[in-house]
Amino acid sequence: MRDPFGRTVSYLRVSVTDRCDFRCVYCMSEDMTFLPKKDVLSLEELDRLCGAFVRLGVRKLRLTGGEPLVRRNIMWLIERLGEHLKTGDLDELTVTTNGSQLEKLADPLYAAGVRRINVSMDTLDPGKFTAITRWGKLDKVLAGLDAAEKAGLKIKINAVALKGVNDNEFHDMVAWAGECGYDLTFIEVMPMGDIGPQRSDQYLPLSMVRAQLQERWTLEDLDLNTGGPARYVRVRETGGRIGFITPMTHNFCESCNRVRLTCTGTLYMCLGQEDAADLRAPLRASESDEAVERAILEAIDRKPKGHDFIIDRRTRKPAVGRHMSVTGG
Ligand code: GTP
Ligand code: 5AD
Ligand code: SF4
Repeated sequence: MRDPFGRTVSYLRVSVTDRCDFRCVYCMSEDMTFLPKKDVLSLEELDRLCGAFVRLGVRKLRLTGGEPLVRRNIMWLIERLGEHLKTGDLDELTVTTNGSQLEKLADPLYAAGVRRINVSMDTLDPGKFTAITRWGKLDKVLAGLDAAEKAGLKIKINAVALKGVNDNEFHDMVAWAGECGYDLTFIEVMPMGDIGPQRSDQYLPLSMVRAQLQERWTLEDLDLNTGGPARYVRVRETGGRIGFITPMTHNFCESCNRVRLTCTGTLYMCLGQEDAADLRAPLRASESDEAVERAILEAIDRKPKGHDFIIDRRTRKPAVGRHMSVTGG
């Protein structure tokens, strides 16, 4: 699939649920209203839709949420999708998770063909962890990471840089990730969804994080481009890899290879734009996948050139109204 700007779309991110067992302060408000069950695609429907994307050339699938692993029977879907790995139609099946269910699910994930996971963890301090996630327990996530490692999964940690919250811990996190052999990615807060507190107060540009890290570590630029938004460096002292995702300050849209499907079957062609295509109607309208494949191709034809995130300090309104948990980033 090619978009109007000549970019090949080969990566689908699927938000399998908008629900989550955490309420991270930068992601959700405390009292979220979630989608009614009837609007949410069944696991069978999600499987069918993903199959259509794979037929059209998607080589990488990432399941996100909300928290993907809290959806009931999610392993059924992951096992089904894993079949595309066996046939060679898919190169990679991955998950972005908050880690709360990994103790239980790490082994089944590996068995289904998952080899890498991204785990969100913004701090190593248990009290702070609960303050950020509102409902999360750090112990549980650390135990989950342990289980994931034992299961053979490669781990990348995602840490959102939050001014005045975790900005005194970046050195510790680099050291910790280096010791554990995890990749670590820092992310700038993106203005998505109404979350109550003022996001412009949380925003910390990663140029400052990088400058801070360079006081202690030797960062060597890596020429690695995963097609994703992260720019990577190697930390000479630990040998570990660090990524920087800077949607607010750096534009990586020109190499974008991805689109996003929500659990209601809505396809977003860009994380930072509202334009979307409904795939649920064509999916439910017929048993054949012809209509849905046509709808997918039409949508790809409208993929915008890029996002225009800004944190508007005057109105303090999010740039994009939907929450991150709708599309899973
Ligand atoms: P890979 O699949 O290995 O490239 O991982 P990833 O880092 O893209 O995935 P992950 O789910 O861990 O997302 C990390 C962060 O990157 C999240 O905050 C996402 O919102 C953000 N992100 C991922 N893709 C895009 C994108 O196309 N645009 C923007 N602005 N942010 C993105
Ligand atoms: N800005 C940046 N990152 C966010 N995440 C969730 N909400 C936001 C936001 N507003 C992160 C999570 C997770 C990833 C998928 O997105 O921490 O690591
Ligand atoms: Fe849940 Fe992830 Fe959002 Fe945190 S960032 S509330 S873990 S979906």
